[in-house]
Amino acid sequence: MPRPVDLSEELGRYIGKQVSYATHGIHRYPAKFIPQIPRFCLESFSKVGDDVLDPFMGSGTTLLESYILGRNSYGVDIHPLARLIAKVKITPVDPHHLESLSGQLLARIRSDEGGNDDWIPEIPNRDHWFRPGVLRDLATIKKHVWRMRKGDSQDFFKICFSSIIRKMSNSDADSLIPEVTSFRKKLDEQGRTSFDSISKFENTVRNKLIDAEGLWRISKEVEEKYWSTPVARIIGNDARDVELRNSDVDLAITSPPYASAVHYVSVHKLEMYWLGLLDDIAKLDGRVVGTSRAYVNEYRPWEPKTEVSELRALLLELMEKEKKSAYIVYKYFDDMRRNFIEVNRLLKRNGRYCMVVGENTFRKVRVPTYAILARIACKCGFELKSMYVYDVINRHLDIPRWNNSRIEKDHILVFQRRRAPTMECL
Ligand SMILES: C[S@@+](CC[C@H](N)C(=O)[O-])C[C@H]1O[C@@H](n2cnc3c(N)ncnc32)[C@H](O)[C@@H]1O
Repeated sequence: MPRPVDLSEELGRYIGKQVSYATHGIHRYPAKFIPQIPRFCLESFSKVGDDVLDPFMGSGTTLLESYILGRNSYGVDIHPLARLIAKVKITPVDPHHLESLSGQLLARIRSDEGGNDDWIPEIPNRDHWFRPGVLRDLATIKKHVWRMRKGDSQDFFKICFSSIIRKMSNSDADSLIPEVTSFRKKLDEQGRTSFDSISKFENTVRNKLIDAEGLWRISKEVEEKYWSTPVARIIGNDARDVELRNSDVDLAITSPPYASAVHYVSVHKLEMYWLGLLDDIAKLDGRVVGTSRAYVNEYRPWEPKTEVSELRALLLELMEKEKKSAYIVYKYFDDMRRNFIEVNRLLKRNGRYCMVVGENTFRKVRVPTYAILARIACKCGFELKSMYVYDVINRHLDIPRWNNSRIEKDHILVFQRRRAPTMECL
C-alpha cells in the first residue's frame, strides 16, 4: 500500500459549513460525501472537457462538482429517488420561471377545497406513519404538483414535495430509517411538532428557490468560462452494468456502499411511496450492492472460497457466527469486483478510479473494506497509485464504524487502470 497522505486539515475546515452551496443541499441523502472530496479528485486527476463517471452517484455530488469545473459527467444509481435528486441538482432552471410557477402552484394549493383522497398512495401501515390531516394536505399538494407540465420545473417541485414528507410523518426526524420513537411521541404530546404541511411546503419552496437561483448563477458562469456547457447526465441504474462504450471515461470517482451498512431503500421509503417510485421494495433492495437480503437457497450451497487472503480470514470469522452473514459480505465484495471490471472497461488507457471508502463493522466484526477493495481492484487490472486519508465526523447517518469512535479516518484510494482484468471470480 502507498504511504497515505493526510488531508484532514484541508478538508476539516469544510465540515459542517460551505458544503451546501448551489443545489448540494437540495434534498437529504444518506452517506453523501462533502463536495470538496470529488473536487479534490477532479482538480488532481482531470482537466476541463474530460469525461467523468460516478457509478454509485447517490444524490449527484460528483456530477455537480464536475459541471462547476467544466468536466462532462455521467452518473449511475440503483435508487430511483437518488436519480431524481441528482437530476434536479444538476439541471439549471430559470429562477424567474420557477418563481412564477411557484406563485401559481401555491395559490392553487391554498384555494383547493379538499376531497383529494384519491391522491393518497398505498403505503404499508399508512396510519402509523401519517396523521389523517397530514394525509389530506399531502394529497392536495401532490395533486397540484402532478398536474403541472412534465419536465424540469415539475421535477423541482417534486423534490420540494419529497423534502417535507419525512418531516410531516410521525417519524423521529433524527432516525436514519423512519421510526416512530417515544421521544417523538413525547414532543407531539407537548405540542412541540408542527403538522401544517401546506405552510411547510410553502417555506420549503421558498428556500429551494434560493438554491435553484444559486445553480442558475453558476450555470451562467460555467457557460462563460468554458469552451461549451459541460454535459451532466444520469445514464443508468446499475454500477455493475453501465451503458457507455469501452474506453469513454477519463476519470471515475465514487463513494461506494458498504456491506449491510445503510439500508438505502428503507431510508427514503416514505418519500418514494408518495412519489410513486417504489413498486417492489424487496426487488429493489435485492439489486442494491451491499444488501443485507440473502435467501437460504443462495447461501446454503455456497462455500467461502476466495483468492483474497484478508477476505478469506474475514469470511471464516463471520462463518463462526452465521453463514448468512458471511455470504452477505462475500456477495458485497463480489459485486464490487464486478464494478471494478466494468469501470476498467469504461476507462481510457491509464485512466484513474478514485474511491472514497473506510472501514466498518458487521455483526461486531471489523470489516477493512478499503483494504479488501484495494486487493480486489489490483486483481481487476488496477494499480493503487496513491492513497489519502482524512478524519470523518461520524454524524448520525454515517456508517457503523469500527471501535465506535466519533472520529475515524476515511480513505481516498486512487487506482490507475493498467491492464484488462484477470479476476474471473473472487
Ligand atoms: C455512499 S452512497 C453515494 C453517495 C454520493 N457520493 C453522494 O454524495 O450523494 C452509495 C450509493 O450506491 C448506490 N447503489 C447501491 N447499489 C447500487 C448498484 N447496484 N448500482 C448503482 N448504485 C448502487 C446506493 O443507492 C447509494 O446511493
